[in-house]
Amino acid sequence: MSKTNDNSNPQNVETKDIMFKLYRFDPDVNDKPRFDTFIVPVIKGWTVLDAIMYIKEELDSSISYRASCRMGICGSCAMEINGKPRLACQTQVISELQSKEVVVKPLANYPVIKDVVPDLEPLFHHHENMKPFLIRDDEEKAIENPEGELYQTPDELEEYLQFSYCIKCGACLAACPVVGTDPEFPGPQPLTQAYRYCIDTRDDGFSLRQLALDNPHGVWRCHFAGACSEACPKGVDPAFAIQLLKREITARKFGKKTEPAGKAKQPENVERWKDVPYPPEKTVK
Ligand code: SF4
Ligand code: FES
Repeated sequence: MSKTNDNSNPQNVETKDIMFKLYRFDPDVNDKPRFDTFIVPVIKGWTVLDAIMYIKEELDSSISYRASCRMGICGSCAMEINGKPRLACQTQVISELQSKEVVVKPLANYPVIKDVVPDLEPLFHHHENMKPFLIRDDEEKAIENPEGELYQTPDELEEYLQFSYCIKCGACLAACPVVGTDPEFPGPQPLTQAYRYCIDTRDDGFSLRQLALDNPHGVWRCHFAGACSEACPKGVDPAFAIQLLKREITARKFGKKTEPAGKAKQPENVERWKDVPYPPEKTVK
């Protein structure tokens, strides 16, 4: 352990020197990437993002990285850290990595914008193709003449809730061996979102998504490596969603189909609609 007196450590707390090897590449300027090495006096509790911010502020202002919320919500700081796709803002340097050397690279399977900033366009392109929104057969009528809310039971919500925790960080596509070999394969995140909407009892859009799912580069290319679920920082479990999606497509091919989304009836008189619980007490009054 050592002590420093720099601006990032105003209380002069104990630090540990860790070597950071940072991927450097500017496609507009460089022919090939290189690694720059920095010694960072890491304070207990620092994340990899804290260390990168230290490098930017104290050692080399020319490095580029992407981050926003610093609390595992926005998904913008995903990068490859010691060989695994992770959120930099959620990866503890000392207690988690337990290494004197930290190698930071951009996420695999994406073009590089600069240094450790990947271009997530392939993810958003495939995500958009999956029509990640509710599609209703009665949309026009409902817009002109809305009759009420679309209710769901807690069980119906549970069917897709876990898959809606995705923050679009892109780590799952970086981990996926199929994405690495077939750019037309949508990848774990888009397929998970396709399932999330297809299984939603308020949605009628399965047939509109089917072409993007059920083709030689679609859902069947997944061979269940499971690396996406291991990489996902939010516990979404895309590998599981993809297997459920395969089951759903197969079932519908044999004429089986989940119940079509129905327009919920309004509760009559004072009785609440059956199976729809009361909301929790308000916490803000
Ligand atoms: S499924 Fe998980 S790893 Fe993939 S983009 Fe969403 S949050 Fe990130
Ligand atoms: S900065 Fe938002 S998830 Fe890391």
